[in-house]
Amino acid sequence: MSALTKVPDLEAGEARWGDFIAAVRPRLTPATRFTERELLGPKTTMRVGGPARVYAEPAGTDDLRELLVEASRRQLPVLMLGRGSNLLVPDEGVDGLVISLGHDHWQKFEPLADGRIRVGAGLRLKNLCGLAIKAGLKGFEFLEGIPGNVGGALRMNAGAMGGWMFDVVEEVEMISRSGEVRVMARADMHATYRHCKELDEAIALGAWLKPAASAQSDDIRRQIDVYQKKRVESQPREPSAGCIFKNPPGNSAGRLIDESGLKGARVGDAEVSAVHANFIVNRGHATSADIIALVKKVRARVKAAKGVDLEPEVLLYGAEWKDVL
Ligand code: EPU
Repeated sequence: MSALTKVPDLEAGEARWGDFIAAVRPRLTPATRFTERELLGPKTTMRVGGPARVYAEPAGTDDLRELLVEASRRQLPVLMLGRGSNLLVPDEGVDGLVISLGHDHWQKFEPLADGRIRVGAGLRLKNLCGLAIKAGLKGFEFLEGIPGNVGGALRMNAGAMGGWMFDVVEEVEMISRSGEVRVMARADMHATYRHCKELDEAIALGAWLKPAASAQSDDIRRQIDVYQKKRVESQPREPSAGCIFKNPPGNSAGRLIDESGLKGARVGDAEVSAVHANFIVNRGHATSADIIALVKKVRARVKAAKGVDLEPEVLLYGAEWKDVL
């Protein structure tokens, strides 16, 4: 396609966003943050990536619904942003509406009379653990070191230390892309390793969690300290997106990469961590392109050395890994 034929496409794309913004902005409450070309890199733990065409932090369910319904009506892509810990944002950014549940409205932590806890999708897992300690509620210790929020952890069924998010979930409140809110019981949901089918499309608004038991705060704290020590010893400190590949069934991606001699391998400032080989760390000014190139290199080497195809665990924001690998 020549440059000349591309221009009208770009203009048409811009006009669609302009129309969307003009239609939706007057319907949002002033408490909702709504911006254009917001840089996403600083909102991710990897600290790379370009801007979101449109960015919103809705202040409540009604504003979220307005955004979803209007975008869906115009067939504009919508992407949720959690804590930004498990994704890679392309250098050119994303031509979509990026929604973050960062507003206070979504940070709820409410112990209920029936023993359960009601949490909002925007609540950080670290805060969830801290509040559970204070309330003397056990069972959430494994979540402490995961740099995510409740919504992202539900969507990815995040896990660590032998537990995963859906171990502690009883019900999830979610909204569809067309704006219908529903509550679904854990038993009706399909949560597997790093995936929850129902949240591929729907967006979690919050959940009801079940503590394992009541306990002394000191005992809970001690268990968290054990996990923290393990994590500090076995995982890198530099910016990363957590483990970059899924563990293949019955195997460890970290061990396979390590045994393929890849620790320290680099493309630009992206580096296979010397501490844990399943982490790609940003040594300063890595770009998304550097990280993607390193992912390719690691996959090729592990395939050649071990005969195993590694599948990325980290989401490639606004794109599909299969299109870049
Ligand atoms: N190993 C190596 N070399 C390495 C890294 C690991 O030989 O460079 C070996 C370890 O010695 C161990 C085995 O591989 O025998 C497994 O390693 P580890 O215990 O660190 O667990 P993992 O399977 O690599 C998983 C999750 C982590 C989670 C940890 C701790 C995945 C892909 N990773 O790592 O989750 O924090 O267990 O519970 O499931 C994430 O999902 O982003 C993540 C970091």
